[in-house]
Amino acid sequence: GAAVEVDIAALKPGEKMTVEWRGKPVWILRRTPEMMASLKKTDSEVADPNSDRKAFPIPEYAKNEARSRADHPEVLVVVGICTHLGCSPVDKFQTGAQPSLPDNWEGGFFCPCHGSTFDLAGRVFKNKPAPDNLEVPPYMYLADTKLLVG
Ligand code: FES
Repeated sequence: GAAVEVDIAALKPGEKMTVEWRGKPVWILRRTPEMMASLKKTDSEVADPNSDRKAFPIPEYAKNEARSRADHPEVLVVVGICTHLGCSPVDKFQTGAQPSLPDNWEGGFFCPCHGSTFDLAGRVFKNKPAPDNLEVPPYMYLADTKLLVG
């Protein structure tokens, strides 16, 4: 399918937008400094911190803790489909208390189908049914606020 151009100029810190690429939802989340800092903590709590698993090979430029390009590390670009059986995870960072989740939840994504949780880099937490982190599609910046997905 064709690559998709996305203008992210209006995307504020802490906000997420969804675009469609090859019939899949692609999430673009501009992470706040707090969200970025949370990745240090979840590093030891996720199953595959460096995205070494091969089910969804990650682009080389996103092989880092934040799983994003170095020129805009705060912008996360992932396919919003659970790697277990394809359900749609929901955001767990825009609202306050989440009674069904642990007190120490730093935020991320929660799959309601079988309870997989993902951190703010889309990395799956340990001992969850999802076998892999959320897929990072190929993407690049055409300009500071213009992304090309695909
Ligand atoms: Fe997401 Fe099973 S489909 S945990």
